[in-house]
Amino acid sequence: MASSEPGDVLILGSGLIGRSWAMLFASGGFKVKLYDIEQQQVTNALETIRKEMKILEQSGSLRGSLSSEEQLSLISGCSNIQAAVEGAGHIQECIPENLELKKKIFAQLDQIVDDKVVLSSSTSCLLPSKLFAGLAHVKQCLVVHPVNPPYYVPLVELVPHPETAPATMDRTYALMQKIGQSPVRIMKEIDGFVLNRLQYAIIGEAWRLVEEGIVSPSDLDLVMSDGLGMRYAFIGPLETMHLNAEGMLNYCDRYREGMKRVLKTFGPIPDFSRATTEKVNQAMCVNVPDDPEHLGARRQWRDECLLRLAKLKRQMQSQ
Ligand code: NAI
Repeated sequence: MASSEPGDVLILGSGLIGRSWAMLFASGGFKVKLYDIEQQQVTNALETIRKEMKILEQSGSLRGSLSSEEQLSLISGCSNIQAAVEGAGHIQECIPENLELKKKIFAQLDQIVDDKVVLSSSTSCLLPSKLFAGLAHVKQCLVVHPVNPPYYVPLVELVPHPETAPATMDRTYALMQKIGQSPVRIMKEIDGFVLNRLQYAIIGEAWRLVEEGIVSPSDLDLVMSDGLGMRYAFIGPLETMHLNAEGMLNYCDRYREGMKRVLKTFGPIPDFSRATTEKVNQAMCVNVPDDPEHLGARRQWRDECLLRLAKLKRQMQSQ
């Protein structure tokens, strides 16, 4: 099945995530076709991508070794899915998070693809066993879950269907590395994959601590952004353990009982009640009022931080 050459890339759905994928694949030198059921979405996407690439180039943050014009010349729109599939080595689905809609498009692709192309979904939380059930080309299917914004946050989770061929995982892993993303292999599908399971574990405890009046919402966030998050941008929780003692064995000898004692005090799943939600919202709105303008400006600031952090990480890795 899958040949070692990835071929062209076809992106289905040119919304937020489809646009990011287009930029990432073009930065790796791949020819990209963008398809959408709404032709206007493709036109908008091409315009936004052009603007974004120019800004990135001016600030020295454009990814890859090609100029923005060279990268832009690799991306084109298309309106015929059948024709678009021709010559594609990798298809990245980025349509809305709706199981029936996604199943429909994969069933359509199943009818027209060869036995070489990789069929990949960007889904955040739909399981491969549901998405790809019954497809003739199931061996070529997997989930490739990016993190928003994918241009600045390189992690992608590769999640196989139980019948996905190892070659599909290997080839997609290599492709992600080639475009500068940071792939991880999830060995077996699980609800929430890995990133969201970790994220929800943190949200769960954050919510309980705020709800019980242990800490204010803004101080809770500070514990992450000025505490744990500082380390986690460079090393994960397991390496943190390893370095916080004389290695992992020593860490567990020292802290096993303490960790278990504290973990036993964790409460039940919060129900995210209206009362606590309002209290947390009020606290968030002190710095970032929840209107589109303030939220947009803060997102822009966040992306700028992530962009600079990505640069720093690259520098640190090359040392
Ligand atoms: P979006 O709503 O911005 O874009 C979806 C696009 O798909 C729209 O342009 C729409 O016209 C098009 N579309 C709808 N039906 C279609 C069809 N049958 N064929 C072709 N195009 C079709 O959505 P967004 O945010 O880009 O999300 C796409 C996928 O990426 C979802 O599965 C989502 O869960 C996943 N994802 C989203 C993240 C985020 O933060 N937005 C992060 C990681 C994954």
